[in-house]
Amino acid sequence: MTDNTAVAGSNTAPGDASTASTTPATAADTPGERRLPKITVVGAGNVGATTGLLLVLRELADVVLIDIAEGVARGKALDIMQMRSNERFGPRISGTGSYADTANSDIVVVTAGIPRRPGMTREELLEINSGIVRSVLNGALEASPNALYVFVTNPLDVMCNLAWEIASSSPAALPPARLMGMGGVLDTARFIHAIAEATGAEPAEIEALVVGAHGEAMVPLAQRARVGGRPLNELLSAEQIKSVVDATVNGGAAVVELLQTGSAFYAPASSIVQMVTELLQPTGKILSVCARLNGEYGISDVSICVPVRLGKNGVEEVVELELAPAELSQLRASAEATKQQLGRL
Ligand code: APR
Repeated sequence: MTDNTAVAGSNTAPGDASTASTTPATAADTPGERRLPKITVVGAGNVGATTGLLLVLRELADVVLIDIAEGVARGKALDIMQMRSNERFGPRISGTGSYADTANSDIVVVTAGIPRRPGMTREELLEINSGIVRSVLNGALEASPNALYVFVTNPLDVMCNLAWEIASSSPAALPPARLMGMGGVLDTARFIHAIAEATGAEPAEIEALVVGAHGEAMVPLAQRARVGGRPLNELLSAEQIKSVVDATVNGGAAVVELLQTGSAFYAPASSIVQMVTELLQPTGKILSVCARLNGEYGISDVSICVPVRLGKNGVEEVVELELAPAELSQLRASAEATKQQLGRL
């Protein structure tokens, strides 16, 4: 069981974040005083800045945004701090271009990367974002060797595996539990949205999970999904369930198509915050997170999105749910596909 009272790297009790609104706390408070956790968000683009905004609005942590475009990080942080006059949240957010300012973070969220541009091959994108993840990890690990690391940069599973390889071979080796990726929480949010639209139910009534690689090989667990405790196939036809699954898999592409430039960021940022909340104030909730596997689900030596429980040590437990045989083989195929992509790096 996870420890329900622990808060990663902090002595703030769960539900205690409200103290921040009366006592403006900063990560630099004198030792021994209560302080908020410190979270660094690398990449102050759409996903990173929205994550920073949600984290301070929810009073979860003091936030440092860091970007190679230092002015963007500082400008967005300043804009959010000016919002503080109206919204009256306690935590502070700052922007920087230097890892020294991120020192001793409790959590580092990595959203730095570039999107695929017209004419760019998938391999070229992989090469560029791999280079970014490599340089980010070098800087961040030196400044925050004890932090929990949440990767978001796409292609997510490949980046997570690469980060694992770098982190496990660096002098300040990072235990696998402290390195995870955000993909499955977002896919699950999209699955729940699609089920809600198809059934007319509220998201709160829906229990569902998506596992596997964050991309076309994802595995929405339709056979396990419940609406008000009832299996999905009691409410929807096989054809309707297929449409729900398709809408889930194409959830990100649908946003890209409408936006024309850029990709989704509200649901991704909210999914990061779901993970961060569980890391800081664990409730034992099962989330689909990209985690290192060692034989669970019959899969080894790869990081992929599976049901886990998060806590102050990161991935506290990989939860082995009983999957339908077809869904289990899809998950294994998804892991295999990720391994093959890695082999091409
Ligand atoms: N160090 C720090 N920041 C960097 C670096 C780097 N080495 N390289 C790029 N960045 C910054 C860019 O300057 C930019 O501000 O990363 C930010 C990325 O922001 P956006 O282009 O707005 O991308 P966003 O939509 O936020 O997506 C970020 O998350 O969901 C994934 O697929 C998405 O991989 C992408 C990532």
